[in-house]
Parts: sequence; C-alpha cells; structure tokens
Amino acid sequence: MEDVQSDVESWKISGNSPAAYEKYLVPGFFKPWAEKLTALVSPAPGSEVLDVACGTGIVARTVSSTVKNGVRVTGLDNNPEMLKHASKLSKNSGLEINWQQGEAYQLPFEDHRFDYLFCQQGMQFFPEPQQALKEMHRVLKPGGRLALNIIRSIDYHPAFEILANELEKHVGETAGNMMRAPFPEWDQKTIRSMVEDAGFENLLLHIEIISMRFPSPEEFLRREAASSPLAGEMESLETDIRNQLINDLNRSLESYQDDNGVVFPMETVMIVADKKNNYR
Ligand SMILES: C[S@@+](CC[C@H](N)C(=O)[O-])C[C@H]1O[C@@H](n2cnc3c(N)ncnc32)[C@H](O)[C@@H]1O
Repeated sequence: MEDVQSDVESWKISGNSPAAYEKYLVPGFFKPWAEKLTALVSPAPGSEVLDVACGTGIVARTVSSTVKNGVRVTGLDNNPEMLKHASKLSKNSGLEINWQQGEAYQLPFEDHRFDYLFCQQGMQFFPEPQQALKEMHRVLKPGGRLALNIIRSIDYHPAFEILANELEKHVGETAGNMMRAPFPEWDQKTIRSMVEDAGFENLLLHIEIISMRFPSPEEFLRREAASSPLAGEMESLETDIRNQLINDLNRSLESYQDDNGVVFPMETVMIVADKKNNYR
C-alpha cells in the first residue's frame, strides 16, 4: 500500500473558525463519533492516551472526562489556533489535558510511550497518511491500541456534493474542492490495508451512520463555511452572488428538506487495531 496519498494541501482553519467549528460541527457529529470511539476502546484507568489531529479536542476531552482515575491525555494538532481553543475549553471544564503542537507524520514523542492512540477525522488531511500511521505505531506501547475514524467518500454524502457543486458554480473551483476535501476516496479495503501495512493486527472495522440536521439550506452553507477555511471568502462574497447561491442551494437540496430543515446521513468508518504484544 504505497500509493495512498492525500491531495489536501491546506485545509487550515483560522481566525474565529475554531469557535465556529466547535459550536456548529462538534455537537452534530464529532461529539457522537468521539463518544462511540471512546466506548469501542474504553481506555483503562491510569493509561497514557494520545489524540492525534485533536482539533478543538473533542476526543481528548471525552476520554479525559469518561475515564477518570488518573488517565493522562495529550492532544496533538499542527494548528495552533485549534489548540488554543482546545485549551480554553478543557480549562473551562476543569480537565487536565496536555496540548501539544506537532505534525502527525513526525510525532514529537519517544517510541512506545502511549497505551491508546486516537485519531478522529484526521487521516484524510495528512499529506503522508501512511507515514502518519507508522508514527502512530511507533509511539504506541507493544500491545497498545489504535482507534481511528475516517469519513466515507462523498458518494455517501450527496448533500455535501450538492453544496460543493453550488460553491464551485458561484464562488469558484477552489471553494468546491475545499468542501469536498474532508471526504477521501478510501474504501474499507484500502483503509484496512493502510492500517495493516503500518504493522497493526486484530483489526475491527465498523461503519457508523448518524443523521445530521441544519435548520435550513442557508444555515447548512453558513455553518459549514464558517467552520472551514472558506470563512473569510464567504464573508466577503457580494450580496447578489450569495443570494443566488442560497436560492440555488434551496432548490437543489429540496429532496433533503422536511418541516425542520435539512437532514441527511453522515457515514464514517471506525477502526480499532492493536500493536503486537511482543513487538520490539
Ligand atoms: C476535521 S478536523 C478533526 C479534529 C478533531 N479530531 C475532531 O474530531 O473534531 C482535522 C484536524 O486535523 C488537523 N491536521 C491536519 N493536518 C495535520 C497534521 N499534518 N498534523 C497534525 N494535525 C493535522 C487540523 O488542524 C484539524 O484540527
């Protein structure tokens, strides 16, 4: 499995976007996925846990608040603005979490340090995902456990394909590509091989489907854009263009609307795997 590459160059959230991300996206799907992933693994009290690509830290915070009794949690991300927001949130909740800046494909930790390693919706953004998996394997203790989730391709998320197409039409190709970027083309077989090729065993693959809701197509656009690298561009969009975009989006999302707004499924692959017990 050497040909797996991520073509995402810069899906980088800045400005007020970490707060928007936490407010608009975390409750709807990142939080339920973090709870599911934590439950699948159930880290033991007293263990050392790493959350790679932690963002605003929902996985680190979920582990820290669920597994009490001295669990030591570190959250790592390469975006200092996400980490700043993560730190503010953990302090407000009275959680002790170590937040550290670093690259997933060059983890700033010694070999065999962690008992559990989580990476929620991070793999698809790494320029070298296979190298990141090797690094995750390196920093886990022998017998340590990996827990990943990776959203399924955009084919399983037609409402996002519609949003991306409308953005492409009204804002530009880059905006459309940006909205498609979080959805990798990786199927279950590809993900399985990536994880096994990095040295993991006892792989368990599970598909999780939840429903995502927004009060209207306009709010779907506004919240997704505000929580993404498109925030600045959308703010400075001419009023006429924005209105046209909203009109078209309303029309093309018609079949996803009910009396409470827009609703559609979100599907993610979850993987749990172990580093060999006798690994040296
Ligand atoms: C979709 S967010 C997921 C955040 C978090 N895991 C969650 O569940 O909310 C993707 C995260 O990956 C981070 N990221 C992207 N490339 C990275 C890299 N090379 N090393 C570390 N973090 C990275 C981004 O900064 C962002 O916070």
